[in-house]
Amino acid sequence: MSISEAKYIWMDDELVEWSEAKVHVMTHALHYGTAVFEGIRGYWDEGVLKVFRLRDHIVRLFNSAKIFHMSIPYTQIQIEEAIVETIKANSIKENCYIRPIVYRGYGVVGLNPIKAPVKVAIAVFPFGKYLEEKGVKCCVSSWRRISIDSQPPAAKVCGNYVNSCLAKVEAVLNGFDEAIFLDSHGYVCEGTGENLFLVKDNVLSTPPTVSGILEGITRDTVMTIAKDLEFKVQERLIARSELYTCDEAFFTGTAAEITPIISIDNRIVGNGSPGPVTRKIRDQYFKVVLGKIDKYADWIVKV
Ligand SMILES: Cc1ncc(COP(=O)(O)O)c(C=O)c1O
Repeated sequence: MSISEAKYIWMDDELVEWSEAKVHVMTHALHYGTAVFEGIRGYWDEGVLKVFRLRDHIVRLFNSAKIFHMSIPYTQIQIEEAIVETIKANSIKENCYIRPIVYRGYGVVGLNPIKAPVKVAIAVFPFGKYLEEKGVKCCVSSWRRISIDSQPPAAKVCGNYVNSCLAKVEAVLNGFDEAIFLDSHGYVCEGTGENLFLVKDNVLSTPPTVSGILEGITRDTVMTIAKDLEFKVQERLIARSELYTCDEAFFTGTAAEITPIISIDNRIVGNGSPGPVTRKIRDQYFKVVLGKIDKYADWIVKV
C-alpha cells in the first residue's frame, strides 16, 4: 500500500520535514537489516487521537533492541513523549499509524555493528485498513517461518521481514490475500504480519511462543477480552489440518486488527463469511481501542 505523507518525522530529537527525513546509503541497517521497530495505531474519535497500548509497544521495542545489543539513547518515557510530540506536530486528526524505528546508522561496514551509532526515528501518518475487513483468502506458505534457533521471531527486527515478504509475494502472485506460515517443525505459526486464531466448538486456539511467533499485542488483547467474554482460550501447538476443519479463523495485528479468514488453501472456513465468535471479538475489540469499555481504559493514551 502507498504511504500517506505527513508533515514531520522525528529524527534523533528533532522534527524534520517529511521530504528531508533521509539516511546515508551506507547506513548499516540498510545493508544488514539491523533495525527494530514498532507499528502502533491511533484512532481519531471524539476530537482526540486515542493511541492503543503505547506503553506495551515501547516495552517490546526496547526488548527487541536488547536482543540485538542495541542500547537506545533515550528512555522509554522519552520515546513515548517523542511519539506524542510527533502526533501533535503533524496535527493528526484521523486514524493513523505510528512507526518508531531504532536503527544502526552510518559508521561501520561488516557484520559487527556494535560501533555503529543507534539512531531513532518516528513517523506518524494517516492509515486505513491493512487487510480486507470482509475476510481474506489464505494459503499455507511454501516458506517456513524463521525458526527460534536461527533468528528470534520474538524480536520485531527488520531482518525478519524478508521472510515475511517472500511469503506475502508468493501468496499474492498465486491469487491469495495472505500467507500462513508453518514453523520449522510443521506446526501452524502466524501470518506474514499477523498472529492467528482458530475457533472450534467455541474454543479459541492460538500458536504458542515456542512456535516462533511475534508475541502480538493484539493477540494479547484478544486473549484478554475473549477470556472476559467467557470463552476458553488455548495457547497450543496447532496441526496444519486443523486449519481446514476449524469453525472460524482470524488474524490479529495492529495493522490487521481482527481480520476474518474465509478460506485456507481453497478450503472454505465455516460458511465462508466471518463467524459469530470472530464478529463478537471484533465488535468488542473496536469498543476497546476507542476506550468505550472502562475496564480496559488504561490501554489508551489520548493526544
Ligand atoms: C510477524 C508479525 N506477527 C504478528 C504481528 C502482530 O503484532 P501486534 O498485534 O503487536 O501488532 C505483527 C505485527 O506487528 C507481525 O509483524
